[in-house]
Amino acid sequence: MSDKTIPEIMETIIRNRKTEKVLCDLEAHRSVPADVAEHNREIVLRAIKTAGWAPFHYPRKVDDLAEPWRAHVLWQEEAKQAALYLRDELNVTTNEPRLAAACSALVLVTWLPEFYDLESQDAAKLDRETQLARDEEHLAAASAMVQNLLLMLTAHGMGNYWSSGGKLRGPEMFQYLGIPKQERLLAAVFIEYPEMMDDSKDRKAGSLRNNRSDQWIREVTL
Ligand SMILES: Cc1cc2nc3c(=O)[nH]c(=O)nc-3n(C[C@H](O)[C@H](O)[C@H](O)COP(=O)(O)O)c2cc1C
Repeated sequence: MSDKTIPEIMETIIRNRKTEKVLCDLEAHRSVPADVAEHNREIVLRAIKTAGWAPFHYPRKVDDLAEPWRAHVLWQEEAKQAALYLRDELNVTTNEPRLAAACSALVLVTWLPEFYDLESQDAAKLDRETQLARDEEHLAAASAMVQNLLLMLTAHGMGNYWSSGGKLRGPEMFQYLGIPKQERLLAAVFIEYPEMMDDSKDRKAGSLRNNRSDQWIREVTL
């Protein structure tokens, strides 16, 4: 057992979370062994459910769900299929096919703007400013959910990377993956299981990792 206090553990996890972009060619793709996949599947699903304990301000009320976010989970085989689709059908030459080929799992977190929800009775009743303010808070809440997920994955020793998604954001990929049009991609969370970490893949850190200060804190004196 760790002799750290709970705040110390939380601080360690928050500070240890880091972007790790892991890439490989589709030909170099290495399958997750079945037992490893099964074990980690439970952990990832539980991490997603726990991430859903993020705060949210307004009930979004799509499909009778209050939450303003959705999580679309691609296990390794589906992520590999998506990599092939991106590369061979959509002719994507950016990093996404190689990221999707290298990951152990991929969670696409979307949020549900009211702005695009033209059929919603409630949305029609709201003036534009109110709608925008609500959308900002839906997005803020969904972002909190994503950070929760990254922290849970970090706590489990899983590599993770929050990407905007590149071509995964587009209508072709939404259709291919069965994601409703009214959702917007907030985060493509690429996950690497600890058992799958080896030197065969390319690894890149987040470009802003060391651009941090605490100069943005201001203690108000009146
Ligand atoms: C909303 C959001 C979108 C991001 N999208 C990308 C992305 O598309 N490509 C990328 O290289 N990094 C992306 N990042 C990760 C940042 O580059 C990374 O967090 C930053 O460099 C700091 O590094 P760290 O996460 O290791 O602290 C994104 C982060 C956030 C919060």
